[in-house]
Amino acid sequence: MDLGGKQILVIGGGSGIGFAVAAAASQAGAAVTVASTSADKLDAAVRRLGERARSAVLDATDEAAVAGFFEGRAFDHIVYTAGDWGGARRGPLADTDLAAAAGLFRVRFWGALAVAKHGAPTLPQNGSITLTDGMIAQRPSKGSVVSSAMAGAVEHMTRALAVELAPIRVNCVCPGLIRTGVWDSIPAERRQDQFARLTARQLLPRIGEPEEAAEAYLYLMRAGYTTGQVLYVEGGSALGQ
Ligand SMILES: NC(=O)c1ccc[n+]([C@@H]2O[C@H](COP(=O)([O-])OP(=O)(O)OC[C@H]3O[C@@H](n4cnc5c(N)ncnc54)[C@H](OP(=O)(O)O)[C@@H]3O)[C@@H](O)[C@H]2O)c1
Repeated sequence: MDLGGKQILVIGGGSGIGFAVAAAASQAGAAVTVASTSADKLDAAVRRLGERARSAVLDATDEAAVAGFFEGRAFDHIVYTAGDWGGARRGPLADTDLAAAAGLFRVRFWGALAVAKHGAPTLPQNGSITLTDGMIAQRPSKGSVVSSAMAGAVEHMTRALAVELAPIRVNCVCPGLIRTGVWDSIPAERRQDQFARLTARQLLPRIGEPEEAAEAYLYLMRAGYTTGQVLYVEGGSALGQ
């Protein structure tokens, strides 16, 4: 399926993996809209994407805003890469404040569901929705109970949405370690060592690039006979020895 001339919405497309998806889709001839909460970030993204790109400020956790955003709009494909990085993401279960931990689901799970609910009616029968989780769903580490459960929930939601919304296709990309701005919190002089340590056991022992993750989203948008699937872009971390 050619992406030329298609209307593609990337929620979370102002940075990181989402930006790489927007850039690749734009390169493939699609008309891209990037959406997220920060107008500045989106403006900068649109400047880099070129004049055909559009942006929209949208908080995916605000269902009324999501419903309003989709009113009167039409897309061919929706990609959801939104994720926030605040709050306590890791820690021993014994110390976990469960009420605060529920916040981990707000953007990645509930935001994605709001977008599927209100975005699906804007899609054609051969349209698609592509969600995002992470390898923590497959390889939990100590202190990651809530993150791992949330990421796994996105995978199950993907399969259930594929059933619910068929023939609209719903798939999910599960990235491993990808070089985006989220890792900038690690001081630059220690970042390379940290990447080397975290990827040492992978079959491909290096961090992935956002453009490599973007390939998976482009494939899932084009792949007209593929739905309810999770596509792993993780450098062989699951098979790492
Ligand atoms: N990078 C990795 O190594 C990695 C690994 C596994 C999984 N992932 C997953 O991949 C996804 C993308 O990660 P990334 O590395 O590309 O991070 P990123 O650059 O921080 O991208 C996330 C985007 O989400 C947007 N966002 C945050 N809250 C939002 C909200 N309420 N509504 C709409 N948009 C919102 C942010 O923009 P605003 O600030 O403008 O809202 C940001 O552009 C995340 O779900 C992440 O968990 C990443």
